[in-house]
Amino acid sequence: MKITIGYLLLSLVFALSHDVLAADLHRIWESRCEECHGHAGDFARKYLGVEDGKLVGRHPVRDVRQFLEHHYPPGGEVGRVYAMLLAQVSNAPRFRESCGQCHGRAADFVRESLVLQDGVLTGRDSGQSAAKFLPGHRGLDPEDAAFFNSLFERVASETGVAQ
Ligand code: HEC
Ligand code: HEC
Repeated sequence: MKITIGYLLLSLVFALSHDVLAADLHRIWESRCEECHGHAGDFARKYLGVEDGKLVGRHPVRDVRQFLEHHYPPGGEVGRVYAMLLAQVSNAPRFRESCGQCHGRAADFVRESLVLQDGVLTGRDSGQSAAKFLPGHRGLDPEDAAFFNSLFERVASETGVAQ
């Protein structure tokens, strides 16, 4: 098992931080998986699929969840990493395509621009809930706004901004 100094430092930061309740899966991915697999969403969409609600990889008989337990185990977060990959396989990279040119990566945007206030994801600058802010922003209709709001909620739980 390879643990980088960066990862240890990040773990320490998590341990000391008061408002971060769960480990940030995107940071875990960046520090422990990205060197071999690249961006998580791209990896998931290219190499993994979903059958009967479960992830399947290139080896038809492999149980991907069990495989993850023994393959560079992501520090007790196998279940959450598995769920993240499953969500990524199931969703097109819409944030990158429609929002990325201004807001960068979804995980970075959520960490930097959104906070959880009374259980509601709220923009740091606008002070408005994302659910209220999104309709009409860059021409988003209510359906697309709802899609991006739920995407933010998922990414917020993955990054530990919200659980
Ligand atoms: C040193 C390189 C390396 C690192 C680091 C690494 N992997 Fe892998 N990973 C591989 C290789 C090589 C395979 C293909 C292995 C095989 O097919 O037997 C693989 C396969 C996988 C698969 C299964 C794909 C399939 O088709 O079944 C998943 C899921 C996966 N890795 C997730 C992760 C996660 C999550 C991390 C970080 C916690 C990680 N990997 C870290 C090299 C790496
Ligand atoms: C052309 C640039 C651009 C694109 C593309 C864009 N945004 Fe924005 N976004 C902004 C700017 C600038 C702001 C700052 C507030 C404002 O002026 O509307 C903002 C603010 C936001 C906020 C509020 C942040 C806060 O702190 O209050 C959210 C949420 C948001 N954008 C989501 C999205 C989503 C989702 C998409 C893709 C569908 C998207 N944006 C596409 C430029 C963009």
